[in-house]
Amino acid sequence: MSNFEVIIYEKRNNIGYVTLNRPQALNAYNIQMRDELYQVLGAIKDDSEVRVVVFAGAGERAFCAGADLTEFLTAPSPVIARQVRWERDVWGLFLSIDKPLIAALHGYVLGDGIEIALCCDIRLASEDAQFGMPEPGLGIIPAAGGTQTLPRTINKAKALEMLLTGKWINAEEALRLKLVNQVIPRKELLPRAEELANKIAAYDPIAVSYAKQAIIRGLDLSLEQGLELEARLGSHCHG
Ligand code: COA
Repeated sequence: MSNFEVIIYEKRNNIGYVTLNRPQALNAYNIQMRDELYQVLGAIKDDSEVRVVVFAGAGERAFCAGADLTEFLTAPSPVIARQVRWERDVWGLFLSIDKPLIAALHGYVLGDGIEIALCCDIRLASEDAQFGMPEPGLGIIPAAGGTQTLPRTINKAKALEMLLTGKWINAEEALRLKLVNQVIPRKELLPRAEELANKIAAYDPIAVSYAKQAIIRGLDLSLEQGLELEARLGSHCHG
């Protein structure tokens, strides 16, 4: 187990567990977390022992309550604060990982919290989860890909509504909008995530990685190019 200051990273049975660990600040995403997440994601990408990853938030109240607002106050402006968070391309790294990523979401899932979840492939939410994108109310726009990943995941009109009005949604609505795959009682959230992770980790890692790549990369291609991608990846499978 590697312990950073604001992230806990553990590895068990070919599964990586990443826990955002600032429960006293509702796991708000600060510069320290950006730096530690960048290191952890790099390790996950390069470590062939890690076949699937589960992301969760520490404490009872939140997965992540968004960007750390105290850093906004110390930066010259929210726009500068946003730029600082871009200095390391955490989000590009996140989206370049070809292994399945599972988000286990509870409590507040706001701003960067939703954006981390949207970088994952399967999102599980506990019944108490609440989702929102408060950025425009703070005079900024999402800094972690949210304007692109949200409408690629849920309906465009609903993405616009969430972002433009700052409307929060609960777990049931998130399920209805397909923002999350499943809603689960709080105490079953991590066991369910682990169960899914174990199932995926038991499969051939090459086939799993190619399946993810075929879907994710294929979505940015024409059908014809996507079929070529599938054929190319399929011809490299072992089975
Ligand atoms: N950045 C820094 N600290 C945060 C934070 C954030 N985004 N969100 C919560 N915290 C801290 C609070 O300052 C508080 O710290 P304290 O105990 O030292 O005073 C602690 O986390 C608990 O939050 P609190 O506001 O007391 O809980 P609450 O239940 O009354 O409200 C929220 C919860 C999520 C509604 C409220 O904390 C909030 O609106 N947070 C900001 C959300 C946001 O705008 N994020 C930015 C997105 S870009």
